[in-house]
Parts: sequence; C-alpha cells; structure tokens
Amino acid sequence: MEERILLSPPHVTERDRQALIDAFDSGWVAPAGPEIDAFERELAEFCDVEAVVALSSGTAALQLALQLAGVERGDHVLCQSFTFIATANAALAAGAVPVFIDSESATWNLDPELVAEELAFRARNGDRVGAVVAVDLYGRCADYDRLATVCDDFSVPLVEDAAESLGSRGHDRPAGGYGQFGVLSFNGNKIITTSGGGALLCHDHASADRARYLATQARQTAPHYEHTESGYNFRLSNLLAGMGRSQLAQLPDRVDRRRQIRHRYAEGLADLERVSVFRPQDPSDNAWLTCIELTDIDREKVRLELDQSEIESRPLWKPMHLQPVFSDNANRVNGTSEALFGRGLCLPSGSVMSDDDVERVIDALRRAVA
Ligand SMILES: Cc1ncc(COP(=O)(O)O)c(C=O)c1O
Repeated sequence: MEERILLSPPHVTERDRQALIDAFDSGWVAPAGPEIDAFERELAEFCDVEAVVALSSGTAALQLALQLAGVERGDHVLCQSFTFIATANAALAAGAVPVFIDSESATWNLDPELVAEELAFRARNGDRVGAVVAVDLYGRCADYDRLATVCDDFSVPLVEDAAESLGSRGHDRPAGGYGQFGVLSFNGNKIITTSGGGALLCHDHASADRARYLATQARQTAPHYEHTESGYNFRLSNLLAGMGRSQLAQLPDRVDRRRQIRHRYAEGLADLERVSVFRPQDPSDNAWLTCIELTDIDREKVRLELDQSEIESRPLWKPMHLQPVFSDNANRVNGTSEALFGRGLCLPSGSVMSDDDVERVIDALRRAVA
C-alpha cells in the first residue's frame, strides 16, 4: 500500500535531534536556561519586535495576550469566526464572552467593516469590549492597516494570532508584530515545531517581563515561594527551545518549499475550471496550507476519494458561530466563512513532501473531480 500523505506533518532533521540532545547534555533540563533566552532573542529579531516570551503553547500565549491587553471578566472579545477554536477558548479562560465576526473574501480574515459595526453596536449598548483578536489564517496576514484604524477609533486593543503565519509578511512588517501583542504556535503541524510550544510577541520589555512572571506561577522574588496574585505554568522547556532554535534557522527553507508546493498545485490544477487555488502567487505569505475552492463539486466526496488514495485533506475551518458549543454567542456574519467551509479543502502542504507526493495529490484530485 502507498504511504499516507499527511496534511502538515512535523519536518524534523538530524540537526534538530542534535540540538535537543545538546540542550539535554547542557544540564538545563528545566523550563529555564540559555536555549530559552537565545530562542526568545532570535524570534524577536526575526519578527522585528522588542521582546518575546517562549511558552508551552500558542493557546497559553493567547491567554496571556488577553490578560496583558487588559481583558476582564465579563468583557466581550471580538474573535474571528473562521478559525481554530484556540482564540475563543483563550477568551473564555479570561472569563470573557467571545463574539464571532466573519471574514472578508480578500484575506479570509476578520472583515474590518464588520468589526467597526460590532464595536459601534457594543459602544451604543454600553458593553465593554476587552480586545479584538485577528487571525492570520493559513499564513496570510489580516488587513492590519484597516483593523488598527478601527480598533484605535474605539480604543480597543488589537491582538494578532500569528500561530499559522510565522515567516509571512503583512503590508509593512513580518507577521506577529501587528497589534499590541502577537501570538505564535510551534505545534507539530506548524511551519516550524518544538512538538508543542508557542510564544508571545511584545513591543516592550515591561510587558514581556510581566508575561514571564505570570507564566511562572506569578512567583515573587524571594528565597521562599511568595505570591501576591495567581499565575500559570506556561513556560517552554529549555530542551524544546533548543529544538526551536534549530527549526527557526531552517524557517526560510520551509517557507520556500511550501510556496513551491502551492505553486505546483496551482500549475497542475490550472485547467480545471471548477477548482481554484487560493492566491497561489502571493509573495508575502508562508503558504502554510494550500487551500482550494471547489465549485459545484461535493467537497466531502472529494475528501473521501483522496482519503481512499491515502491522502489526508481537511475541510476549511468550520466557523465558530456554527459550533454547537457557541450556539448562544453573538455573531456578526456575512456568509463568507459559511460558503468557504462548504466548498473549501486544505491540501497536504508539509515541507517534508517530495515532488512525487505533490504529483500524487494532483493526480488523485484530478480523478476525484473528473
Ligand atoms: C490560528 C491558531 N491559533 C492558535 C492556535 C493554538 O496554538 P497551540 O496549538 O500551540 O496552542 C492554533 C493551532 O494550533 C491556530 O491554528
């Protein structure tokens, strides 16, 4: 049987293994140590931000971002509907109420017009909005020029969930540096991985210091354990930071490879009128996952046929406003995410894929839509 082609498996090398072992051998087998310090410095340089805090997950980084942005219990947090649940879960962890906002068709990310409408509505109602969280979906940056203007107009902090967009650029800077705080994930399916991990990107050292303090159980400086407020156990291990540094050094190659894969999909499917690859020539994004839209074709039939050929694909995100768990939450939608969920599919895009793997996916997809 042919080997299964996965959507976005971890791409790890001998160099990463050695980095992990070196960190182990250094004796710093703890969530503190020189690899963490160096990883934070290197990420800050790469993302062009003042300071970075390495954490145990992107979700932990989102939670800290909301807390540092000043989100309070009972606040509303405007979240992108068309994404993974982590943003909304972080809002819930803060005791806030997620309100789901639809996407614009150009970027598939938060529609600034809808954000403005919702902020105006909440202002009229006298509801406090603690933050707006924009997501850079599938690696493509949201429209931060417009989102920042809208958030400034209403004096609401903007947070960038760049979990999927490390290595991308927005209009004028690397992904992750927009908004008051940025969030990265190094989960196993991301463009670089520490098996599990994340980071909070900050524009000042004071915020980063506070995040580090909260992430280490809010322990005060004292010989004994002294606490004046509650915190979390959210720090990344020094071993994984060692692996993260090795992965970060390979990030430009990973981005190049994912872009090549997307480009080849676009070429190989170009003559199919009912299949379109989303923004295949985008020079600014990291091409984390190649997404296609199917017109007048049953998306689930295609997915199952690919599956039969040992190819993993996945429907585009099911919007949060359609999730049973959020059936009571408010939303402001325009039909974009529901339509994309109905007709869109993510194709295998991992940088581990060989050229032959990509051709196998193209052939199988052509058969499935014939
Ligand atoms: C958009 C987005 N935000 C947040 C996360 C959460 O990151 P983590 O899994 O590291 O907690 C993910 C994925 O995992 C994601 O895709």
